Amino acid sequence: MKPVVFNNTVLRDGHQSLAATRMKTDQMLPICPVLDNIGFGALETWGGATIDSGLRFLGEFPFDRLDTLKKACPKTKHMMLFRGQNMVGYQHYADDIVEAFVNTSARHGMDIFRVFDALNDTRNLECAISAVKRAGKEAHGTICYTSSPVHTVEKFVKMGCELEEMGASGIVLKDMAGLVPPYIAYKIIKGLKDNVKIPVLFHTHDTTGLGATSYYAAIDAGVDAVDVSVVPFANGTAQPDAARMIAMLADHERKPSYDTKALSEIREFLKGVYAQLGAYTMPKNEVIDSDALNYQVPGGMLSNFRNQLKEQKMEDKFEAVFAEVPYVREKLGWIPLVTPTSQIVGTQAMMNVKFGRWKMFTPQAMDIALGYYGRTPAPVDPEIRALAAKNSGKDPIECRPADLKKPGMEDLRKTLREKGLKDDDEHCVIYAMFPQQLEDIYKKPRSAYELKKPAPKSSLSGKGKGEFSLNIDGVSHKVVIEEI
Ligand code: CO
Repeated sequence: MKPVVFNNTVLRDGHQSLAATRMKTDQMLPICPVLDNIGFGALETWGGATIDSGLRFLGEFPFDRLDTLKKACPKTKHMMLFRGQNMVGYQHYADDIVEAFVNTSARHGMDIFRVFDALNDTRNLECAISAVKRAGKEAHGTICYTSSPVHTVEKFVKMGCELEEMGASGIVLKDMAGLVPPYIAYKIIKGLKDNVKIPVLFHTHDTTGLGATSYYAAIDAGVDAVDVSVVPFANGTAQPDAARMIAMLADHERKPSYDTKALSEIREFLKGVYAQLGAYTMPKNEVIDSDALNYQVPGGMLSNFRNQLKEQKMEDKFEAVFAEVPYVREKLGWIPLVTPTSQIVGTQAMMNVKFGRWKMFTPQAMDIALGYYGRTPAPVDPEIRALAAKNSGKDPIECRPADLKKPGMEDLRKTLREKGLKDDDEHCVIYAMFPQQLEDIYKKPRSAYELKKPAPKSSLSGKGKGEFSLNIDGVSHKVVIEEI
């Protein structure tokens, strides 16, 4: 029996989950040699929200962080989280932009691309996975875990087989909400191990207190690697702590032999960083959220919506709104809840409770209903689809959403030249997702990026009907709501 491999997420998901993605490259560097020497399977150092947050709040050009961390951790493979056709943004981009992003990241040393899609529509993973393969790097095909009447162990296993056929070099079960119970984790991992030849990995969060036990069950089922972090950027809404997992595996035939002294050294160092990021960390007693289990929604979504309901003076509607979530999910084809679908479904549930079902239909929810995010796990309710078409004036689509996008790199290059900015691939791909934020880092003074009191993690502001501003992880999105 091979020991289980630990991948370490402290430089990405650890602080994304517990400190609003605010760890600066400079705060990471002193501990990089220790992290690099432990022998983790991979270090997750980039992707997810780190690119948006690094640009927006820390004034860092994303590829500079990658170069710096590559140099600081030269021995271990680097890994990133990649939202398929959305790259690290919130919408679908043209294939040539996705390919350029993958190639550029590969050139800067990214080794493993973890590719997922919020709807588990494998068509949205195809372009990224084949670009990663062509670049000679590893593509982890990722399955987003969710529970619903149409999600079964067999279907998750089938998706794993599809991703293997597509050329993935590993399959990841990604449980972003920490909702997978241990025995179900066991069955999915066992099913994948029995049916695919490539390594099987598991990523969860300890949000509901199930994470470490689900890892244990997955290790019994033969999972090749799991993601761990290091306290204080571990447990709770982040990954289980590495030292805790080692202790849990005492006498287990698959217990790995990572240096626990080195892990203590990392923990001692990170305590200082955690204290510096105090304005962004969560109170300890809010770390495990059993409401997430009751409502089967991500923990982050619960805390965001508690704030939003308060702002909308709907605190007394908490139960009603969360009871509405499964209804909205069902009508929209039982989509998983992960950025951006968790925010879209939650907002629609709130609108339904406030104004009556589908009296206000958000443009994003209409786009899901019409296929503009991809194929949903179950068909969208035909009446809801028809309502979305009528209200938006758009036709439903069945094709892969990016098939409607024209190549975009040449236009991006032209725009950057006109603005007097560098027009290399690095700047083009970042500008495609975050145009204003990229311009800002060249215009704004450094003092603009100094630590300040954070905006609430998520909020919805606006008066009554009409225009709302939806804040997702500190990023403001305009939501225009039309009455039907
Ligand atoms: Co995660």
